[in-house]
Amino acid sequence: MHISRFFQDNAVLTLGLCALAAAMPQKLVPRQSTWNPPSNLVTPLQQVWDHEVATYSNALGFKNYGYDQVMANGGYINYCVRWDSASNLTEAQRAQILTALQRSMKKWIDWFVGFDGFPYTSVPVKIVGYAVKSTSQLQGSTSGYDVYTTKDSGGIPECDPRCGRFFHQDGNYGSCPGGTSRHYDMSLWLTDGFAGGAGGDWGQRIGQEYFMSNLNTDNIHILLHEMGHTFALDDFYDWTPTGVTNFIMLAGSSTIITEFDGWMARDWWRHLKSRYGITGGTATTTTTSSSRTTTTSTRTTTTSSRTTTTTARTTTTGSSGGSGSPLYGQCGGVNWTGPTTCAQGTCTYSNAYYSQCL
Ligand SMILES: *[C@@H]1O[C@H](CO)[C@@H](O)[C@H](O)[C@H]1NC(C)=O
Ligand SMILES: *[C@@H]1O[C@H](CO)[C@@H](O)[C@H](O)[C@H]1NC(C)=O
Repeated sequence: MHISRFFQDNAVLTLGLCALAAAMPQKLVPRQSTWNPPSNLVTPLQQVWDHEVATYSNALGFKNYGYDQVMANGGYINYCVRWDSASNLTEAQRAQILTALQRSMKKWIDWFVGFDGFPYTSVPVKIVGYAVKSTSQLQGSTSGYDVYTTKDSGGIPECDPRCGRFFHQDGNYGSCPGGTSRHYDMSLWLTDGFAGGAGGDWGQRIGQEYFMSNLNTDNIHILLHEMGHTFALDDFYDWTPTGVTNFIMLAGSSTIITEFDGWMARDWWRHLKSRYGITGGTATTTTTSSSRTTTTSTRTTTTSSRTTTTTARTTTTGSSGGSGSPLYGQCGGVNWTGPTTCAQGTCTYSNAYYSQCL
């Protein structure tokens, strides 16, 4: 069975923001209601699609992409935040986290609005819960949130699996204490000292320090990239499509979602829409419940992929032994026990918890 798209992007995404921002064209992209990409993107889009279908184990059978989540809900997304951090969070910070998530998700959703039968003009994002090490970390009022202090098998704060879409892809939240309205589709997993990011059907994981220091950044580019994975998009570590060099899914090459990224995502929508009973170009159509079927074996496989990826991260960031950390690897921070020199690049201070080879 297919496993979820759980990508470990290591630290590639933390490449020089300023240089990239300057290099990126910020042009307005005309909205199109049907599949009609600009002629220069036709070939690379076809290459990407063919590559995805050939390399994903069940590209068109997997049923927990971001599209499936939006459609199953009838047009909204609920998040639970896994606060995998020693820091406290004020009420004001939590409000900013929500705003940052809403702004970032909208940047993807806007590519679907008005396109090829996508039935919503906006997809509201809510945070329904926080998982923390201790409830005392959440300062101020927590009304409106479910607060969890339970942990996953790795000891990391986890939102109640009974309420998570990842664990209930049949859409049945009968065992969730707050019911369907308090279920969460994705997690935003914020981890102290985490380099780069990971994304998949379960949500996105990025460094706590990176995210909290970029709450007011218009394009929180690592988050945008990881959300791209949630919407089924691939990485480009080993090849690049013809003629396109800067786009958010090509890690480190763009800080914004480009026209190419948008059309790659639209390609998924146009191929998946029939599972929601959408056939025409501009219809407002409701979800079919048959789109939410999923097998137990899918979930089991997906769960194991999370463990695998966590292990891969450790390997990537701490395995270079005496020769120093690799490019983009960690090279310092409070309680960091790995190398403090760089095999490639210069050890660059980011904050007390994290220095990186850049
Ligand atoms: C977090 O808040 C608690 C309770 O208000 C306080 O006792 C603790 O010192 C704070 N911790 C940090 C790291 O600020
Ligand atoms: C560093 O390690 C000490 C001793 O184990 C611990 O008390 C402290 O909380 C750690 N600091 C961080 C930031 O993890």
